[in-house]
Amino acid sequence: MQYQSKAAIRPLVAALVFAFASAGAVQAQDAKPADPAVANQLDPNAPEKDAKLIDKYQAVKVEDGKYFDKDGAPTYHITNDGKKFDWYAYSGYRRYHAECHVCHGPDAMGSTYAPALKDSLKRLSYEEFVGIIAGGKQDISSSGTNVMPAFGDNKNVMCYADDLYTYLKARASGAMPRVRPTDKEDKPEAAKKAEKECLGG
Ligand code: HEC
Repeated sequence: MQYQSKAAIRPLVAALVFAFASAGAVQAQDAKPADPAVANQLDPNAPEKDAKLIDKYQAVKVEDGKYFDKDGAPTYHITNDGKKFDWYAYSGYRRYHAECHVCHGPDAMGSTYAPALKDSLKRLSYEEFVGIIAGGKQDISSSGTNVMPAFGDNKNVMCYADDLYTYLKARASGAMPRVRPTDKEDKPEAAKKAEKECLGG
């Protein structure tokens, strides 16, 4: 760079400034997502929405009916004023209420025995979440005997880890209030294939 004259550098600087300016413009648009394929249309009257988490968990891309946030983790897609759910969030709701709610309470609200996962999912990453459900967890520092069982061998849980994670994220951000989902996107071919391989293998 030393040998370059100031005049040669100036267009480069201008280009960089321009790039930052347009990146800012894209971010500003994020508040009301431009891409209709992944934008959420939440229930405007839903209580307890966490604007920061809703932004963090907003889908930025979709692949065969599965949505991903900017960290590359599976996330939810909710439309029709909060009434229509992507397949994975819907499936996660059902799996949660089959396998987890006895301890963690309906709608991930928590119980005297186990923590409210709607709060846990405000901080747990995808990897941490999957690690806990596979390996279990016990708070050895407390005198209590409350144990999170390891589900690593349970296909009814592990084959649906993404579904559970997606549903619980929607609960954590408040994008999904305490509702029983009825309307949903069609089950993607990729989900049918992955389920067959996971359950059968
Ligand atoms: C037998 C009761 C029981 C069942 C069933 C159960 N859990 Fe847990 N889970 C617990 C307890 C108790 C803890 C708290 C453990 C600790 O921190 O010591 C826990 C903790 C967790 C945590 C960590 C929470 C945090 O804040 O760090 C996650 C995530 C979790 N469970 C997910 C699930 C999922 C998903 C299911 C269903 C597939 C499930 N659990 C089913 C009892 C249960």
